[in-house]
Amino acid sequence: FAGITNKDDWQIRKELDEAQLNLRNNAAYALKMFEKVLEKYPSSPRGFYGLAQALDTLADKEKSNELLEEAISNYFKVSEMKNVPDPLYKASLERCIDRTRFRGKYGKAIRVHLKLINRFPDQPEYRNQLTITYLTIGKVEEARSVLEETLQKWPYNGCALVHYGFIWKTIDNNLEKGVFYMQKGIDTQDPCTIDGRFYFHLGDGYSRIGNSKKALKIYQEGVDHKLFLSKYQRSLYNVPRLTARPWWKNNQLSKYNILLEDLEKHWIAIKNEGLAVLNQQGFFQDESENLKDTGDWKQFELFARGRRNTKNCNKTPFTCKLVGSHIDASGCRRGQTKFSVMHPGTHVWSHCGPTNCRLRIHLGLKVPPKTFIRVGDTVRSWNAGKLLIFDDSFEHEVWHNGTDIRLVLIVDVWHPELTMTEKENLSSL
Ligand code: LMR
Ligand code: MN
Repeated sequence: FAGITNKDDWQIRKELDEAQLNLRNNAAYALKMFEKVLEKYPSSPRGFYGLAQALDTLADKEKSNELLEEAISNYFKVSEMKNVPDPLYKASLERCIDRTRFRGKYGKAIRVHLKLINRFPDQPEYRNQLTITYLTIGKVEEARSVLEETLQKWPYNGCALVHYGFIWKTIDNNLEKGVFYMQKGIDTQDPCTIDGRFYFHLGDGYSRIGNSKKALKIYQEGVDHKLFLSKYQRSLYNVPRLTARPWWKNNQLSKYNILLEDLEKHWIAIKNEGLAVLNQQGFFQDESENLKDTGDWKQFELFARGRRNTKNCNKTPFTCKLVGSHIDASGCRRGQTKFSVMHPGTHVWSHCGPTNCRLRIHLGLKVPPKTFIRVGDTVRSWNAGKLLIFDDSFEHEVWHNGTDIRLVLIVDVWHPELTMTEKENLSSL
């Protein structure tokens, strides 16, 4: 513990060390010991750090926010004390930020970030951590300006480069700048750059500017780093063991055969409900993920993240009731049920969904000629009243080169191999 011990603490190191050694196995006892130390030596920085750690450990064990808040304020106290050795200052404030973020108190976390940056102006990591907090809470312009300062001083900092490129690509839709900076960042292979999101968007950027060779190269590197399940299956929220195939036949999803039969049996009623909403205008909403290249593509959502959209369901009660009676569809917290309308002249960029935990069922409702969907390397078309089932974690792409609207009902279902426990515990997407 020499690095975290200042001159005064050195005098009482025996007591501090002993308390410290009890942290892991008996945090309650360690807490008492640190309290005792602090009674005698109220200006001991290691005393406060130890106290915070003991509270932190207990908070975790007892799932107590109150204890955690107390831990956080003691971690912070270390930063306001005199003669705090650098390693102690870092350890205490880094943990302070981690726990403050965990509590969702980002504004407070930012103040702690700024303290670290002030004290260690030569360490770009602290600036990058601040950037990440800003991005987490959607303060993109703040993140961008921190990044620009960072890159002025450290033009080859991989972590700053990938984040800067990520913003250009995903927020500004500036593919050239996005690709340029993300590639430059990934070239450093700094651990911070080896992250599925950067490989995902760098490859996507290359693909959209027409450089499919570079895209494939990046995807292969992503597979080599185990960031993707495969070159074609690039979802980032995965359960690893699940059967992975781009297209599924109805009989490969026999677990849900009643749902499949219901959909095909009632397709006309479903179609009529969808068309009725479509004719009222203003209820279908633009696709929001920036996946569209050209054209017009809108959706009317009935279920999302396992929850019913009551307002929309009131407009299409038959369809909602039908899907609602199949819990693996309506309760699929990693998917949606929605009507999807696509107008002539639409092209949807090649893309991957976020997770391999769902399969995507399309019920063809209104299907003009010259409409296509590619999943993996096989291109298909819809048929009215019939299902297409695919795994949208695989790369897919959609074209509408026809002359009339295409309407389908999209129903996501949990992957049939997920266990009950998994379906209950996986985070919603
Ligand atoms: C997709 O999942 O991206 C498309 O299949 C959606 C659609 O409307 O065809
Ligand atoms: Mn898709």
